[in-house]
Amino acid sequence: MSQDFSGKVAFVTGGASGIGAAVARQLGARGAKVVVADLKLDAAQKIVDEIVKAGGTAAAVEANVGKPEQVETAIKFAVDTYGGLHLAVNNAGIGGAAKPTADYTVEEWQKVVDIDLNSVFYSTKYEIPALLASGGGAIVNMASILGTNGFANAPAYVSSKHGVVGLTKATAIDYAKQGIRVNAVGPGFIETPLLGDNTANNTFDGLRALHPMGRLGTADEVAALTLFLLSDAASFITGSYHLVDGGYAAQ
Ligand code: NAI
Repeated sequence: MSQDFSGKVAFVTGGASGIGAAVARQLGARGAKVVVADLKLDAAQKIVDEIVKAGGTAAAVEANVGKPEQVETAIKFAVDTYGGLHLAVNNAGIGGAAKPTADYTVEEWQKVVDIDLNSVFYSTKYEIPALLASGGGAIVNMASILGTNGFANAPAYVSSKHGVVGLTKATAIDYAKQGIRVNAVGPGFIETPLLGDNTANNTFDGLRALHPMGRLGTADEVAALTLFLLSDAASFITGSYHLVDGGYAAQ
């Protein structure tokens, strides 16, 4: 069964909420040992408790993905707790301030780039040696539809997500012969708490209308694509960017 992750250790950043929580739950339900890493330890522990209650195996760890030393420690925690690392989902992210480029302060810009782009480098940097030591594996980086499209009042987010797509391609090429696949997922707008800080100038109806399907996506729909890319069914897929966007980019 290609989506049986029994015996695999999975590391999910931003796993306490939204898309990351859905990924963690679905991985846990399919047999992976899941490490839920998040800035919010209590919220991460709640997801872990749900996974364990459903019969799975999981542990929570606190980490700010914008801080390389905290990312390194969290990945070491995963390896020490479960004996290796096979799957990683670099998902934690923020929307950032909603304003045009010249109105962004340097601090606002740096915060978004640190959490949405630099974090993916830090995570990848420390995941790769652990994946190699475990005989290979798969990484999924959570980009966005804004990894390929522009959007009003979101210069740092759009730039960071385009960067995540580029980093995904570069890393995939570097490790393609060593048994590590790296892909990016590009969700359209998904109903999660993140939309609260990403939509200051947009109504939810306005966001729904951007998608030909006329609705927002769900975290479980993004998790389904993510699990496929992590699974052996995706064994010849690496370095690519996969949309789950209700038709957004088709227009
Ligand atoms: P969310 O706000 O529901 O969850 C994000 C999680 O990341 C939270 O648990 C939060 O505590 C954690 N987090 C935030 N900053 C962190 C940090 N510095 N260190 C560690 N953890 C941190 O958001 P959602 O929607 O689930 O977003 C997940 C990913 O999906 C993000 O990368 C986001 O950019 C991306 N995405 C979301 C879309 C949406 O419409 N919701 C659309 C496209 C992409």
